[in-house]
Amino acid sequence: MPLFASYPSLKDRAVFVSGGGSGIGASIVEHFAEQGARVAFVDLDEASSKALAQKIAAAGRPAPQFAHCDVRDVAAYQTTIANLAERLGPFTVLVNNAARDDRHTIDQVTADYWDERIAVNLRHHYFAIQSVAPGMKKAGGGSIVNFSSVSYHAMTPKLSVYQAAKAAVVGMTRGLARDLGGDKIRLNIVTPGWIMTQRQIDLWLTPEGEADLMKVQCLKEKVYPPDIARMVLWLASDDSRLVTGQNFVVDGGRM
Ligand SMILES: NC(=O)c1ccc[n+]([C@@H]2O[C@H](COP(=O)([O-])OP(=O)(O)OC[C@H]3O[C@@H](n4cnc5c(N)ncnc54)[C@H](O)[C@@H]3O)[C@@H](O)[C@H]2O)c1
Repeated sequence: MPLFASYPSLKDRAVFVSGGGSGIGASIVEHFAEQGARVAFVDLDEASSKALAQKIAAAGRPAPQFAHCDVRDVAAYQTTIANLAERLGPFTVLVNNAARDDRHTIDQVTADYWDERIAVNLRHHYFAIQSVAPGMKKAGGGSIVNFSSVSYHAMTPKLSVYQAAKAAVVGMTRGLARDLGGDKIRLNIVTPGWIMTQRQIDLWLTPEGEADLMKVQCLKEKVYPPDIARMVLWLASDDSRLVTGQNFVVDGGRM
């Protein structure tokens, strides 16, 4: 069994995660709770989110605070973040993880569909950052992790609007790393490869797809949500205190 790091600086830290109810986000919530952090998360999926909070509490960790919220509704989202921050103290870690990778062909994309995809895959990052930045500044700094995707490098088919959003996450992060660096707020990007969440396994993993993946990855192992969560922990911790504006690819060596 490999042994993994723990981070004393994450103990008691107030952490906010979007889309924490399932997939990679759920693993991130669990990993922060294991470090003794005080975690809040939002998601649309109430059943999975409540089950996750119960599982963490049953394991003797601080129970994360869950709020049902649609990150596409900017006003409701900012109110939810403010309410959760009142309970947990200002968030000094923000993980912008929520997204949705629905497929589409070019002729299926209307202006409304485009706007909705951008809202779920890009826009909420910005407004969550806008919400937490003043509290981070007051607290003397903070760490923000935004999520991109290997899919636009790999030119995965039928994902062009998602890919536009995920490429923009990189530009947005680097711009804000400059603007907020003076307040000791760090922003970095995690770019996952193909990560074996339940959704990916159920919808898209086939024996042929897995064989193709193993051909392109240098490391011949499937990548799972905890592999991403551990990168997020490091970026949130003081161990990465002078790292900002960077993109960390966790893909088994595929890009
Ligand atoms: N799994 C992969 O292979 C992969 C690859 C590259 C990038 N990523 C990125 O990693 C992050 C996590 O991906 P994942 O695979 O765990 O996704 P997922 O679809 O399994 O989980 C996303 C979570 O976000 C929630 N969510 C979706 N829309 C929401 C909304 N409007 N408001 C609130 N919550 C919402 C979902 O309910 C779900 O719990 C995303 O940013 C994704 O783009 C994943």
